[in-house]
Amino acid sequence: MQQPIGVIDSGVGGLTVARELMRQLPKEKFIYLGDTRRCPYGPRPKEQVKRYTWQMVHYLLEENIKMLIVACNTATAYTLQELQQTLAIPVIGVIEPGARAAIKSSQNKQIGVIGTEGTISSEAYPKTLKAIDHSISVDGLACPSFVPMIESGILSGEEAEKIVSTTLKPLKKGNKMDTLILGCTHYPLIKHLVQAEMGVDIQVISSGEETAREASLILAYHGLLQQGNSIPVHEFYTTGDMEKFRNVANSWFDAPIQVLELVELDPIQSSAN
Ligand code: DGL
Repeated sequence: MQQPIGVIDSGVGGLTVARELMRQLPKEKFIYLGDTRRCPYGPRPKEQVKRYTWQMVHYLLEENIKMLIVACNTATAYTLQELQQTLAIPVIGVIEPGARAAIKSSQNKQIGVIGTEGTISSEAYPKTLKAIDHSISVDGLACPSFVPMIESGILSGEEAEKIVSTTLKPLKKGNKMDTLILGCTHYPLIKHLVQAEMGVDIQVISSGEETAREASLILAYHGLLQQGNSIPVHEFYTTGDMEKFRNVANSWFDAPIQVLELVELDPIQSSAN
């Protein structure tokens, strides 16, 4: 099937999922849309996140996508069910794949999860983990300072280390977890800092790999896999600063991104701002 696969996120975080998707599905063309101008979604009310997410989805439907990946935990927590019930194409989020990967990794069934305020307060991870195995104990922590730091391109160095260390302190106190889920797709960009802070005994899980595996299975099941051997040219769209987006994307992918365009999702709101 020649059609592209759509990937959405509130900003650059979904690139961590996109990289894994491109690695596991090298024949597929991806169109990535990051709503960088309105990032972060984490502290926003649920109805607003839903509206923004639908605007991204409508934009990508115009591009005739054959599958949608919601590469944002906050948007997944608030809109996945609605999108799956409404759209005629397969829709995948990142929470279930992340939860499954954590269950596979954990030996003692004590799992930690860090994410945005929205994701943590929605309890989407505890609900998903306990639906699979009710004996799992889950400890969640919102890390509101991580996304602004990552969106501004601070991915290492003393300042980043200090922010990570201060933020994660409450999670380290007396906790017996052996697995920590990065419940925000931005966080894999600072996984090295989180791992260093939590220590080598804790498995730090990003959902990208498992999400890509699920996408691959669903494409195969629906007969939607790309045939032929053409090399896809992926397209990237951002609603915000193009240079910042390009810098993060180029540091994350092996080769510089080729197509990057600025889009406006909500002209009425933009002119009011
Ligand atoms: N990437 C988003 C997520 O996974 C977080 C960024 C935001 O707060 O918008 O939840």
